[in-house]
Amino acid sequence: MDLSSYFTSKRGGDSSFSVEAPKIKFGPGSLTEIGSDAKILGMRRVAVFTDRRIGKLAPVHTVTQALQKAGIDLATFDETEIEPTDRSFKAATVFAKEGKFDGFVSVGGGSVMDTAKAANLYSTFPDDFLAYVNAPIGKAKSVPGTLKPHIACPTTFGTASECTGIAVFDLLERMSKTGIVSPRLRPSLGILDPTTLATLPKEILAANGFDVFSHSVESITARPFTHRPAPPSPSERPLSQGANPYSDINCLAAIRLIGDNLLDAVNTRKERYFRPLMFAGMLAGIGFGNAGCHLPHGMSYAVSGLVKDYQPTGWPTDHPLVPHGISVIVNSPAVFRYTADACPERHMIAATAIGANTEGAPLKAAGTLLADRVIDMMRQTGMPNGLAGVGYSEEDLDGLTEKAFPQKRLLDNAPLTISRNQLKALFQGAMTYW
Ligand SMILES: NC(=O)c1ccc[n+]([C@@H]2O[C@H](COP(=O)([O-])OP(=O)(O)OC[C@H]3O[C@@H](n4cnc5c(N)ncnc54)[C@H](O)[C@@H]3O)[C@@H](O)[C@H]2O)c1
Ligand SMILES: [Fe+2]
Repeated sequence: MDLSSYFTSKRGGDSSFSVEAPKIKFGPGSLTEIGSDAKILGMRRVAVFTDRRIGKLAPVHTVTQALQKAGIDLATFDETEIEPTDRSFKAATVFAKEGKFDGFVSVGGGSVMDTAKAANLYSTFPDDFLAYVNAPIGKAKSVPGTLKPHIACPTTFGTASECTGIAVFDLLERMSKTGIVSPRLRPSLGILDPTTLATLPKEILAANGFDVFSHSVESITARPFTHRPAPPSPSERPLSQGANPYSDINCLAAIRLIGDNLLDAVNTRKERYFRPLMFAGMLAGIGFGNAGCHLPHGMSYAVSGLVKDYQPTGWPTDHPLVPHGISVIVNSPAVFRYTADACPERHMIAATAIGANTEGAPLKAAGTLLADRVIDMMRQTGMPNGLAGVGYSEEDLDGLTEKAFPQKRLLDNAPLTISRNQLKALFQGAMTYW
């Protein structure tokens, strides 16, 4: 099928897209090189961010040893909250200000990398907390200058936070997930060492894999960049540009890697699966960093923000939480059934790539084939059965809809326009799958 036929021109639509590529090092053992990388970036006194669990594991040990061997002074912050909040971003900022650091290193999942980004921002350019936060919740002020160098070392593979200029957090007073977005938040270097995944519980492996899968399918099926209004000036072209020929390549490759490796990785946890999964996460990260996600991610902020008492196995149990990958994948099948009408070829390509049997199937079956394959993979990896599986019921449909509808940036990136009622119907369709 021809992917380029999607990019039809539209009156007033954009005719160019830009590619922001992160600086990445990838490979088993790559973390041992961090001392030299930090020196090249001019670091002499480093803030090492991690969380309490990873702080006790090999990757943090490897990183701190390598930094010290290179003669770099350091202090460690391990109080990162999992799925961070404004409270933990502020605590990390106090640490960053007091330590007088000239560089940042984060070793952990999205929670840790995002916390390091925020601490770097607020300690370098102090302001009211809401100043840099996305509108309409915050003032979306531009980051005024270059931040201190930051080396991000993921120990998960879903978020691709090492590739993005995004820091996500829960604003406690609003029970709402939001974020800070600026190309200046993008780490100076991401070091991806697949051996770090060896200690990941299987539930987190699965949630990460589905996050990567959804990043990729959302990017491929996003509205084409040619249908987004042309920016008033080149500097105003958004990071979420819509589907484009560059992100198509990365994201399609990522879907295949997830289809080929995720089930075996979760069910055997054998090391040979970690490299392709981490590579898939990176490819998808670069892809969605330029294309942008749409409905499953837009809906996920409501699913995680309104959490009741769900406490998943594999994550810390000090508070209820719907982890990011789970809050996304519970929506994806319902969404893809619906969005397939707008671009059935792309949904069919995604269904084939993730391993559905699509031979001879008519295009109108694309959404169902894709959704059914995802549902089958969710069942085989112990994911919750839709929204009901994470504690929601029909009574919550209005609340979820109200919370997700303002996620304009993500909703507008969908391949079709979505009304409040349609959004509610999507949540309803995501309630149970089997
Ligand atoms: N910045 C972005 O672009 C972006 C994109 C998507 C999601 N996010 C955010 O990232 C966060 C989720 O990040 P995540 O899914 O990477 O997980 P996480 O950082 O929240 O970690 C989940 C759990 O896994 C543990 N863990 C991490 N690596 C481990 C390892 N190798 N071995 C054993 N345990 C390990 C952590 O200690 C934690 O308990 C959310 O806050 C989400 O909103 C950010
Ligand atoms: Fe995600």
